[in-house]
Amino acid sequence: EIVYLNGQFLPADQARISVFDRGFLFADSVYEVIPYYQGIGFRLQQHLDRLAYSLRAVRIQAEADWVGILDELVQRNGGGNLSVYLQISRGSAGYRTHTYDDSMQPTLFACTSPIRDIYEDGAEQVKGYNVIVTADLRWRRCDIKSTGLLPNILVLQQAREAGADEALLVRDGLLSEGTSSNLFLVRQGVIYTPKRSSEILGGTTRELILELAAEAGIPYQEVDLQPEELDHADEVWVSSSTRGVMPVLSIDGVPVADGLKGPLWQRMFALFTRFQHR
Ligand code: PDD
Repeated sequence: EIVYLNGQFLPADQARISVFDRGFLFADSVYEVIPYYQGIGFRLQQHLDRLAYSLRAVRIQAEADWVGILDELVQRNGGGNLSVYLQISRGSAGYRTHTYDDSMQPTLFACTSPIRDIYEDGAEQVKGYNVIVTADLRWRRCDIKSTGLLPNILVLQQAREAGADEALLVRDGLLSEGTSSNLFLVRQGVIYTPKRSSEILGGTTRELILELAAEAGIPYQEVDLQPEELDHADEVWVSSSTRGVMPVLSIDGVPVADGLKGPLWQRMFALFTRFQHR
C-alpha cells in the first residue's frame, strides 16, 4: 500500500512521523473520509469544503492541492473503489507542550482502503443495521471533524458487544447522530433529521439525502428529535460516506415498524444509485 505523507508518496511501512506529533499526543488534528468509485472522488468538493471548515475552526493552516494529491494516491493504489483517509495534524514542536504557535509545520497524511460500491451491488445486498441508543459523551464541537474519537470508539464498542452495528447518541434529551453517521427518521412519508448545529457533524451524505429528497419532491424537515420518537417511526436510517444510506432494522432489540427495509429507504437508495451513475 502506498500512502501520502508531507509531499511524498511512499510504501506505508516506510512512512514516519515524530512521536511528538500533536496528532499523536493530543488528537490535535482533523480528518476526512472520502469514497472513490471507479477512481473518481464521490462528492469530493463537499468533503474538501468541510475539511477547510474543520481546519479553520481549529486554526490549523494547511494548504495543498488536495484534489491532485488524493487523485494521485488513488491511482497509485490501483484506482477502482477505495476509501481515502486524509488527516492533517498541527505538527510537532519537537517536544511535548500543550501550547502551539503558527511556526509549526502541519503533518499531512493520506492512505486508502478498499471499499465496495454499494450502489453497484444493489439494494438486495444492503443488510440493514441493528443499533442501540446511548448517551452522547462527546465534546461540544461535533461539527468539527476532529480525530479525537475516543467517545465514539467506546460507544461503538459497547454497541458491538450488544450485537449491534451502530449507536445512536442522546444529549440533553435529544438525538444527535450515530458514532460515525447521521440520523434520519421517516414518519408518514416525511423525512426528519436533526438540524445542523455544533452537536452533529454536517455529513456530506446527509446533505445529499436532503438534496435528492428535494429534487424528488419528498418532504423533509430538520428538527429536534427526541428518542421517544424512534418508537413511532415508520423507518429509521443512518448515513455516511462509506455506508451510504443504511436502513436501521432494530433499535435496542426492538424492530423498527415491521423490521424490514422500508419503502422510502428503497426509493432513496434508487435515487442514490441514479445520482451515482449520472
Ligand atoms: N464518519 N457523523 C459522524 C460523527 C461521522 O464521523 C460521520 C462520518 C458522519 C457522516 O458524514 P459523511 O456523510 O460526510 O461521511 C456523521 C466517517 C465516515 C468516519 O469517521 O469514518
